[in-house]
Amino acid sequence: MAQEEAQKKDYEKTLAELGARSPADVARHFRECKADFASHDLPQITGEEDWKAVRDRWLGRKSGVLTLITNNWLKPAAPELKRAAGLHLNELKTEVERALEDRRASIEEAAEVAALEGDRIDLSLPGVERPLGTRHLIRQTYAELQRIFLSIGYSVVEGPEIETPYYNFEALNIPEHHPARDNMDTFYIEGSGHLLRTHTSPMQIRTMEKQQPPVRIIVPGKVYRRDNPDATHGFMFHQLEGLAVDADITFCDFKGTVDYFVREFFGPGVKTRLRPSYFPFTEPSAEVDATCYVCRGSGCRVCKFSGWIELFGAGMVNPAVYGFVDYDAKRVSGFAFGIGVDRFAMLKYGTDLQVLFQNDVRFLRQFP
Ligand code: PHE
Repeated sequence: MAQEEAQKKDYEKTLAELGARSPADVARHFRECKADFASHDLPQITGEEDWKAVRDRWLGRKSGVLTLITNNWLKPAAPELKRAAGLHLNELKTEVERALEDRRASIEEAAEVAALEGDRIDLSLPGVERPLGTRHLIRQTYAELQRIFLSIGYSVVEGPEIETPYYNFEALNIPEHHPARDNMDTFYIEGSGHLLRTHTSPMQIRTMEKQQPPVRIIVPGKVYRRDNPDATHGFMFHQLEGLAVDADITFCDFKGTVDYFVREFFGPGVKTRLRPSYFPFTEPSAEVDATCYVCRGSGCRVCKFSGWIELFGAGMVNPAVYGFVDYDAKRVSGFAFGIGVDRFAMLKYGTDLQVLFQNDVRFLRQFP
């Protein structure tokens, strides 16, 4: 600043006061002035702000250096110095203007380059990878079961999880006070007369109410029971109901279908057997067992050394059920089954129920 002030003072004096006597003296003062601009002011410019400051200092109308020189050096100059002063002033003006214009252009260009650089897209950067989900084991098991039954002519229907006692029990030949209601551990919805379905069998009734034979359906869905949670029980589990009713379906069709689908699901080496059982809505009823998938029937810890593993409950539709849906029990017959899908998933993938429902993605990702 001190230097600037000193210089400014020069511009406030007249040439006479500065001691200029000849055109050569005048030339020297202008040379110093140009040097002042070129070596002091011009190098100060780094951006738009500095540029404006320097421009105002030199070209400002009221007190810019060029105005000061015009007023103090040129106008009062002695006649013999006036011509030289005029020439040099014009030259100075051109030079300052050109230099400032050049700087302005390069500042603008630099700004543009910087802006472009900031906007640049680096196509070599790796993209943001969104993790792809996998299907849950229970969904995969459902999908596999459905594939098998769709391929032999069944269709899929679904129904309500909140049911009436009529569909969940009565129409399935489980009257009130029937002991079969006790082992169903039902959740009743207080004051509503409704309950959470304890099995998917109510959809047998709902389907037959609406549709005449032939019926071939499977029913995937959640069911609820008041079990204490442990390694093989929860308050909710998944079933796949099956129902086939037609004019002449026999026990052989039942056994053949069961056999076919168990082999499709667990592998061709697996054998099945039917063990007598009891369900109010089937007669005769059976538990379907399969040869143990671990020891293939020779006996091991998984099958408790029996060689067999219990798969699901099934049977021929009890004629009493047809009475509830206006089917003619003398002309139609059929079979039904209720598969525990979680159990099937556990058997096929060798996991336990806890792991299936904890939904730890580290576990689930192993089954893409
Ligand atoms: N509904 C029975 C249960 O949940 C299973 C079943 C369905 C048995 C169809 C026979 C026929 O235990």
